[in-house]
This record gives sequence, structure tokens and C-alpha cells, in this order.
Amino acid sequence: MQKTKGGALSNSVGRPSPLIVKNGNGTPANDGVPTLLVENLSFSYPDGHSALRDVSLQINEYEKVALVGPNGAGKSTLMLHLNGILSGEGQVEVAGMRVTRSNLPVIRAKVGLVFQNPDDQLFSPTVFEDVAFGPLHMGLPKGEVRDRVARALEQVGLSDYADRLSHHLSAGEKKRVAIATVLSMDPEILILDEPSAGLDPRARRALISQLREFPITMLVSTHDMRLVHELFPRMVIMDEGRIVADGATDALMDDAELLETHGLERG
Ligand SMILES: Nc1ncnc2c1ncn2[C@@H]1O[C@H](COP(=O)(O)OP(=O)(O)OP(=O)(O)O)[C@@H](O)[C@H]1O
Ligand SMILES: [Mg+2]
Repeated sequence: MQKTKGGALSNSVGRPSPLIVKNGNGTPANDGVPTLLVENLSFSYPDGHSALRDVSLQINEYEKVALVGPNGAGKSTLMLHLNGILSGEGQVEVAGMRVTRSNLPVIRAKVGLVFQNPDDQLFSPTVFEDVAFGPLHMGLPKGEVRDRVARALEQVGLSDYADRLSHHLSAGEKKRVAIATVLSMDPEILILDEPSAGLDPRARRALISQLREFPITMLVSTHDMRLVHELFPRMVIMDEGRIVADGATDALMDDAELLETHGLERG
């Protein structure tokens, strides 16, 4: 995969907002507008393999949604469309803004996408530089960048890691730093591709409690059905490039036939 980063192209976005913005009455600021809207999205890779087939999905502000399905279902491919790394037929909107080539810098500040493989996300010598990369390229003042880095590292439980060398970290530590690199951008939606893969039980537990506390809209792909059960009220199942179910996690988990048909097990 091309080495890139959520805000790599971003230099025009000065969004000094806190992590969440609410109106005075506590209701979401962008009432009515879905945080993510995907309509009739289809995509084939250059070799002709059809990886997304007419996918439609709506996620509203502060929803936490799990994306599950067998290997090759199209989960990562879908996620790569949400900040314009891939582009298929159909439409993707983030907080009311269509994802197009011309607004990619703004979209990438809104969509915090954490890749399946953290080595695709981390490319600076130190953890500080990796986490500061997005805010620096948003043109934020140095003091604010430092504050954002400190906050993002604290959110993933790695406050002491700023001076560590990114490429020397363990797989689980890299995952958490990769999440911090997008949290420092104050995204409107956090998209995590298999965040708990490769984590030891303690790191996994820590991740779960951190994800539970993030007051942010979230779409998370995972094979960890216990994680789905514990954290996500809503679950979307993909298979062979299509969304085959979308609903309350408890109800879908009770549908043994549905789970078996799509190679899933109850969490
Ligand atoms: N660069 C590529 N060129 C051709 N086909 C690809 C490419 N990347 C992925 N695919 C194919 O597209 C389909 C969807 O892949 P994708 O990585 O989105 O699945 P996934 O649901 O994320 O799977 P996993 O659970 O293994 O991560 C698979 O059949 C895969 O082989
Ligand atoms: Mg994947």
C-alpha cells in the first residue's frame, strides 16, 4: 500500500475545535446530517476483481458501528474509499461533504483512518513526529501541535512514548500510536481497520476501554466478535463485496444461521 497518512495532503484546514462540538443544549452540532453516507458504491481492482458491489451505509453522529465479515469480504476496500484513497462508482459523503479529488485535504482531516497494518501509517523517526505530522500539516501553531500530541498519546495510554522510535515499537504499541496519529487530527469519524489484531490480552482490554470512552463516531472492522459484543450496539456484515446485514448487534448475534452463512461466530 502506498505510504500515506490521514492528513498528508492537508495544509488548508485550521479546525481548532475540541474533540466534540455540541450545541448549548447538548445536542450534536450537525443535527440531521449523517457523519458518513455511502450510496451505491461499487469498485473493482485494476485486475478486474470486483471488491465492492452496490454498498450503501449511513452512520450518524456518535454512533459506534462494527464492520464484520470473512477474509476478502471487502471491509478494508470499503474503508479505503472513506477518505478517498480508493475511488469507485457511487457516492461517499462525510458530514455532508462529498469525497472528491478536489477536497481530499479537508476530507482527510475529517476522517481518521487507521490502516490494518500500522507500518503503513508510521514513517517518521519518532512517535512524537508521527503523531504531530497531521496537525503540523494542518498549519497549526507549534504549541497547539504539542498539546494535541500529548492528548492523543494520553488517549491511547502511551503518554511516555513521545521520544521512542516508531519502527522499534512492538506490534501492539504501533497499533496504538497509529490510532494516536489520527486522534491528533480531531477527526469527525474514526475508522479503524482491525484495531485489536495482534494485541495481547492486557493491551486489548486497554484498547476496548479507550474506544468505549472516545466520544466520537466510529466504524471499526474486526474479526473479534467479543469486541463487537462488548462495544458496538450496531453491526454491519459484509460478504463478497456486499452488505448482507445491518442492524442491532444483539439481534444479529442471535441469528445463528446468518452468522454461519457468512463464516462468523457468536461473540
Ligand atoms: N490490490 C488489490 N488488487 C486486487 N484485488 C485486491 C487488492 N486488494 C484486495 N483485493 C481483493 O479484494 C477483496 C476484498 O479485499 P479486502 O482486503 O477489502 O477484504 P477484507 O474484508 O478487508 O479482508 P480481511 O478480513 O482479510 O482483512 C479480496 O478478494 C482481495 O483479494
Ligand atoms: Mg481487511
